[in-house]
Amino acid sequence: MNVNGQAYRTIRLHADGWSVEIIDQRRLPHEFVLIRLTTLEEAAEAIGTMAVRGAPLIGAAAAYGLCLGLRPDASDKAMRTGSDLLLKTRPTAVNLRWALDEMGKALLPLPPEKRLEAAYRRAAEICDNDVETNRRIGGHGLKLIEPMAKKKKGERVNILTHCNAGWLAGVDWGMALAPVYLAHDAGIPVHVWVDETRPRNQGAALTAWELKNHGVPHTLIADNAGGHLMQHGQVDLCLVGADRVTACGDVCNKIGTYLKALAAHDNGVPFYAAFPASTIDWRIADGVAEIPIEQRDAREVTHLRGLGPDGHSIEIALAPADTHAVNYGFDVTPARLMTGLITERGLVQASAEGLRKLFPG
Ligand code: MRU
Repeated sequence: MNVNGQAYRTIRLHADGWSVEIIDQRRLPHEFVLIRLTTLEEAAEAIGTMAVRGAPLIGAAAAYGLCLGLRPDASDKAMRTGSDLLLKTRPTAVNLRWALDEMGKALLPLPPEKRLEAAYRRAAEICDNDVETNRRIGGHGLKLIEPMAKKKKGERVNILTHCNAGWLAGVDWGMALAPVYLAHDAGIPVHVWVDETRPRNQGAALTAWELKNHGVPHTLIADNAGGHLMQHGQVDLCLVGADRVTACGDVCNKIGTYLKALAAHDNGVPFYAAFPASTIDWRIADGVAEIPIEQRDAREVTHLRGLGPDGHSIEIALAPADTHAVNYGFDVTPARLMTGLITERGLVQASAEGLRKLFPG
């Protein structure tokens, strides 16, 4: 997507041909900064501290992180320790393991001296495939928005989204926001309700920034406002992303998604998750019981970071000193609350049968 008229991906090979350039998402929306990753450890740190985040992008960053790790040593042992380090950075988004498995499949059969070049090739493919996959997800999601727009006869279609499943969460285009961008570009009047998404505020910081950049009308709301808007007919469609989807269609996504799905269900608002096949964890069925939910530093709950009056980033305390807090990163929306799923292969019911039909392999 474009930033100040220039096309960017969230991750790419640096012009030096070996280091990896990322958009530092910790600095958005107030500063647009590109940083270079030069070692496996730097890549792991970038994932863990959320300089790169969002399930598909975490996978892409892990693939390149492994390339950096193989530069000094491409032995089986180095592959194992590199993968282990990267795997530990974020436990919930399954794309991380998927990408490392893909790298393993491509590299382990090769002799060590041939691995580095093949690793960069496979990482680049993972990134390119992600872009194409997301464009397809956008096309399938657009088919939901078009009839809504027709029915509303020129009135805007109101879409609520949670967290950031836009282009910043993938390599480009995004998942939940890809249909929105395509609709907007096709002249369909869309408006997005952006959940702020406490505690990391990916909605306020990232989704609002993305939509502003692309000129898509949007309104930032407090996380608690969605139910009220749905009760008053202000939401036509909820579109969210996913960090892990079970073989039965349970959807794990940013904390708070489940509450939005309950409100949507109660108010008859269609609720869809958009994600690539690499987000499906075929090994598990029951998302609530089986998906590991990341817990992050409680300070993300008790404190808030933003722009101070002098234009510098500051952190402020929200709670009394030493307040005990917990910080769950994700929750699981059971398949029965999902109207459907949007994948690169099309729209499907959130069920084992639906997913199996779409992905018979
Ligand atoms: O903690 P994050 O920012 O990496 O969380 C991931 C997300 O952005 C969301 O849960 C998103 O909806 C799914 S990732 C496409």
